[in-house]
Amino acid sequence: MPHISARLTWNEEIGPGHHLMAAHAPQIAAAARPGQFLHVRVGPTHDPLLRRPFSVLRVDEASGQVWLLVKVVGRGTRLLAGMAPGAVLDVMGPLGCGFPEPPPGEEVALVAGGCGVAPLIFWADRIQTTFSHIRVVSILGAATEDVMVCWLDLAARSDEFYATTEDGSAGERGLASDALRGLLARRNFAAVYACGPRGMLKVCAELARGAGVPCFVAVEEAMACGVGACLGCVVPAAGGGYLRVCSDGPVFAAEALDWEALAT
Ligand SMILES: Cc1cc2nc3c(=O)[nH]c(=O)nc-3n(C[C@H](O)[C@H](O)[C@H](O)COP(=O)(O)OP(=O)(O)OC[C@H]3O[C@@H](n4cnc5c(N)ncnc54)[C@H](O)[C@@H]3O)c2cc1C
Ligand code: FES
Repeated sequence: MPHISARLTWNEEIGPGHHLMAAHAPQIAAAARPGQFLHVRVGPTHDPLLRRPFSVLRVDEASGQVWLLVKVVGRGTRLLAGMAPGAVLDVMGPLGCGFPEPPPGEEVALVAGGCGVAPLIFWADRIQTTFSHIRVVSILGAATEDVMVCWLDLAARSDEFYATTEDGSAGERGLASDALRGLLARRNFAAVYACGPRGMLKVCAELARGAGVPCFVAVEEAMACGVGACLGCVVPAAGGGYLRVCSDGPVFAAEALDWEALAT
């Protein structure tokens, strides 16, 4: 996998500790598929040694830009979020598998929790352009209104959009999975695609299974190599064994994972 030098072109704090960033990387913009990620060196030196993975939020092939959403949670993301436009990022990617093509049907549900919105914006965009006969019904959940970032980007690419916050400060009070439960009871989705916290993914997987709807989840796990060589990112597989998030995923069919082991 080649390492690409990508010049940072945009870095804007769009919510507390949440940065929308863009880099000029035409090869990645042309090749990336929704659900794939970039493995990014977060500083100019080898400290920290390990790269950090980020989902591709969207691409602009015409200008060669790739967009990421970065939530500051520790040292690596703090360093990355502190970089100014003009800095050069060392990037590997696009890596991993993307979301599988929607099964036959009229509409799909996209369920995002927090930063899980990033790959689903790209996926909603791709469904609208490539599978334009399919309606996109999106749900975005966040703890509070101020960290409900990128909701306009998802809403603009959806035929229907629902927002939830845990404190009721925006949209319906509750969880994204509560909204999914209500929709599954009265709609006939071809598939559910989800990205967000483990607990949310587990509930989405259970709800979709109960409704007989295929469910695909984009899983996050700390990574080292990013290309399947070190087993640093494994998650428990249904029926035993492990799957590598970086190379077997990060998108998995929900039934491929051992949810009891994964979500604890
Ligand atoms: C495929 C994939 C896509 C991702 N996409 C995005 C994205 O679009 N936007 C975004 O902000 N983040 C995304 N992440 C998570 C991001 O990679 C981590 O938040 C980041 O690596 C943390 O680095 P750090 O040095 O700041 O934090 P660290 O100092 O390494 O960790 C700080 C805290 O975060 C936890 N943590 C570290 N890595 C992860 C992880 N991968 N998943 C869950 N918790 C973790 C640690 O346990 C610790 O509690 C993605 C992860 C994966 C695997
Ligand atoms: S990070 Fe090395 S195998 Fe996935």
